[in-house]
Amino acid sequence: MAPRLLVVGGGRMGSALVAGLLSGGWAPPEDLAVVDPDAEARLRLVSEHPGLVVTGEPVAAEGAVLAVKPDVAEATLASLAGGISRVLSIVAGLSTARLEAAMAPGAVVVRAMPNTPALIGAGVSAMSGGGSATASDLAWAEGILETVGTVIRLPERYLDAVTAVSGSGPAYVFLMAEALIDAGITAGLSRDVSRRLVVGTLLGSARLLDEAGSDPATLRASVTSPGGTTAAAVRVLELKAVRSALIEAVAAAAERSRQLGR
Ligand SMILES: NC(=O)c1ccc[n+]([C@@H]2O[C@H](COP(=O)([O-])OP(=O)(O)OC[C@H]3O[C@@H](n4cnc5c(N)ncnc54)[C@H](OP(=O)(O)O)[C@@H]3O)[C@@H](O)[C@H]2O)c1
Repeated sequence: MAPRLLVVGGGRMGSALVAGLLSGGWAPPEDLAVVDPDAEARLRLVSEHPGLVVTGEPVAAEGAVLAVKPDVAEATLASLAGGISRVLSIVAGLSTARLEAAMAPGAVVVRAMPNTPALIGAGVSAMSGGGSATASDLAWAEGILETVGTVIRLPERYLDAVTAVSGSGPAYVFLMAEALIDAGITAGLSRDVSRRLVVGTLLGSARLLDEAGSDPATLRASVTSPGGTTAAAVRVLELKAVRSALIEAVAAAAERSRQLGR
């Protein structure tokens, strides 16, 4: 019997999805196949997931996840030929219309933009259905993406903004972490202590923001006493235009995503 799902590309994101699908009980290993031309990637997958079907050539399956780099995505999709009728693509910047054009007529495409915290099951993805995707196709794609994090359904016209906010977003947070760790060292802390304080602060603040359900401005005001230390720091951040730098950074990333998609 054909496997339930073929993961096309066993790189970082493809492997993260396989790990999520297996640990989330979406399917047993023998119901999942991964195709990757790279022998080293195949060996790694076989040793990490005994029972997983790992091949160097595409096999027919009930559906597929396309997780190859954008420059080879359309050719790879065309090479799947008639063996697959439903595809979830996580390829950055490639529209559902272009994906559909690379497939057999009537094939179903759902497009998603996940982010790297998916590697530890803590990603956030936005997804959009192509022209022939039904409610059941969207539920199928959502079920796959949910094994590596949370999922938001959005019309496709928003995916460049999504790419700029959450696709590239981990890089903005890592940049802030780097700077804060260096700042702790400048203020006299060891690198190890500064790193632990920064990571704990980022994790705790994100959880508080999520669980308190308040908006970030309210939470920030609650740690800013009149004439206090936080007020002194926030004054410098505003003077240095950190807020508008983030707004401009996201606008630049969204524009770049639009250019790459053309
Ligand atoms: N990383 C992210 O944060 C992120 C976020 C959202 C979306 N994405 C998207 O996810 C996709 C995959 O990214 P990644 O970081 O996982 O890339 P990656 O680590 O380079 O993985 C891609 C894998 O696909 C393999 N491959 C190449 N041609 C193939 C073919 N014809 N059939 C099957 N497999 C093939 C590659 O093998 P070789 O190495 O031998 O070429 C590689 O092992 C990209 O399109 C990216 O835009 C990534």
